[in-house]
Amino acid sequence: MKLPDGPKAPSFLQLLQAIAYPLERLEACAKRYGDTFTSRTTGFPPLVIFSHPQAIQEIFTADPNQFDSGKGMGVFQPTLGDNSLILLDGDRHLRQRRLLMPPFHGERMRAYSNLICETTETAMNQWTVGEPFFVLPSMLDISLRVILQAVFGINEGERFQQLRQFLRSLLDLTGSPLRSSLVFIRSLQRDLGPWSPWGRFLRLRHQIDELIYAEIRQRRAEMLNVASVHSREDILTLLLAARDEAGEPMTDVELRDELMTLLVAGHETTAAAVTWALHWTHRLPEVGEKLIQELNTLGCEKDPTAIARLPYLNAVCQETLRIYPVALFAFTRIVRTPIEIASYQFEPGTVLAPCIYLTHQREDLYPEPKRFKPERFLERQFSPYEYLPFGGGNRRCIGMAFAQLEMKLVLATILSHFHLKLVDNRPVKPVRRAVLTAPPRGMQMVVTGVHRSQNALIPV
Ligand code: HEM
Repeated sequence: MKLPDGPKAPSFLQLLQAIAYPLERLEACAKRYGDTFTSRTTGFPPLVIFSHPQAIQEIFTADPNQFDSGKGMGVFQPTLGDNSLILLDGDRHLRQRRLLMPPFHGERMRAYSNLICETTETAMNQWTVGEPFFVLPSMLDISLRVILQAVFGINEGERFQQLRQFLRSLLDLTGSPLRSSLVFIRSLQRDLGPWSPWGRFLRLRHQIDELIYAEIRQRRAEMLNVASVHSREDILTLLLAARDEAGEPMTDVELRDELMTLLVAGHETTAAAVTWALHWTHRLPEVGEKLIQELNTLGCEKDPTAIARLPYLNAVCQETLRIYPVALFAFTRIVRTPIEIASYQFEPGTVLAPCIYLTHQREDLYPEPKRFKPERFLERQFSPYEYLPFGGGNRRCIGMAFAQLEMKLVLATILSHFHLKLVDNRPVKPVRRAVLTAPPRGMQMVVTGVHRSQNALIPV
């Protein structure tokens, strides 16, 4: 089978380029080869990359049984486990997805609003006026506390303090391209003691597992007390009570893998997105000012539901995820039965990759794509195949509504309390963090003033 054309450079060189300059490489390939091309990098099967909305629609609306996706996500297995939603396909994927979706919809979202605003306020209290702080670590702290609270209903006490610390250490270990290669390349997975990358990974994972299993055991015991179950609204309680079509509950190992999936998928992504939003609203003062004016229309006591409905705030968050999507690609889809996409015929085993970044950079959809212009989202509606920061089809991100709410409320809470400035106002390029792209960890801001009432800014 002949795959679409693509770069001819040796596959090792293509791999190095993909690690060092992921965005530039994708753009150069799209310019040279068009909407569909094949990328070949050492250690991975050829990847057919798509960025035309028609092709993306064909992939997202195809019968899910025509693709495997979990099979291509092996890199997550050591962290998330075999039962993670991300690694499952077919009926098991559908079953787990049905069990995991309810906590991320409708009324449940309202319960998370106060939690997000309060957690942000606690984190902001640690900032000192006039003293620079690192934005991404601060946002990681907020998003980890929020997801722990949403998942377990609690994030205080020794168990959760340890869980936070071990999770951050594990994700930092696997965050940089170099360190993650040392951890995830199978031939290098040797436990040479706590100082070797794989040895450290195994020890951290063991410590995290112990804490999660201890919490599951305690909750199962508490489940016997019906009153305590009714008083809890966290995701673990819902999952403990959930039954599949056959009336079966989730096992401890399934629960551990899904909890870990939510903790990992649900915090670095959102933290990177909020950090970008803070960057853009301060790098472009006219955007920040317009946003503050809109927030001021709500008065001093801002209702989170009203904040979440603000149109310009929504547009700023959408544009943030358009210009530098946290995930450059949706999950790969591995062809299971022959399929035609974008007029190409693909045989079983071909790996297809809907490219979020290139779709969001199309001139025909987003004129002047390199400019941050929230107004484009006020002027027109984009289809789910033109704007796809959360992927689509049967794998669409289950935390989408949660992440959007968190982005809006964290940003609104910070801007309503503080006047901030970027320490360095030069353009910032995304860097790789494992499979994500994020603002650099070194990006700093400084508090320059405090808003005491809806309009008055007290400069310090
Ligand atoms: C700004 C924040 C986020 C972004 C940009 C994002 C992006 C994505 C993307 C692109 C996918 C792949 C979808 C596809 O292949 O079609 C995905 C899947 C997923 N996301 Fe998110 N995500 C975010 C936040 C979250 C949150 C907060 C959670 C949970 C609390 C979460 C949980 C998941 C899960 C479990 C999947 C796998 C779904 C499946 O395989 O069926 N994500 N996300």
